[in-house]
Amino acid sequence: MKTINLLAGAVIACGLSVCANADEYTQGEIYTAMCQKCHGQYAEGNPAKKGPSLIGKTKEELSVDIYELESGGYQSSGSGHDIMEYNLGVIKNKGMKVNPDKMAEYIYKSFGEK
Ligand code: HEC
Repeated sequence: MKTINLLAGAVIACGLSVCANADEYTQGEIYTAMCQKCHGQYAEGNPAKKGPSLIGKTKEELSVDIYELESGGYQSSGSGHDIMEYNLGVIKNKGMKVNPDKMAEYIYKSFGEK
């Protein structure tokens, strides 16, 4: 019985294309898997999903934004923020951990610098 439970757990944990530990996802992998559809392949934004462009923000601004979204403490409430907060919850449930500082650095280094 124990073996079966362990196996079932492993299958759930490996539901994503990469079968890896939560810690082993790079922020880049998380961005591609979870953020790109709304914020664009190059963080240029995706109007269809109401995702704003993340280009042109400083690393610090991005990091603070993600912290606030993650803690649900974003001040002005609007549907967009609900979307982001909901999303971060979904991402966590998939075993991926968004690290605000590292994610901000990834976005900034990959797309933000001109
Ligand atoms: C389902 C679509 C969706 C997904 C997926 C998504 N976002 Fe967002 N995101 C939004 C929307 C919509 C906003 C705009 C919120 C607002 O300003 O009202 C936003 C705002 C943001 C902001 C703040 C930008 C600003 O100008 O205020 C950051 C930073 C951000 N998202 C990062 C991320 C990261 C990192 C991920 C992946 C871990 C992600 N988002 C996934 C829709 C999404």
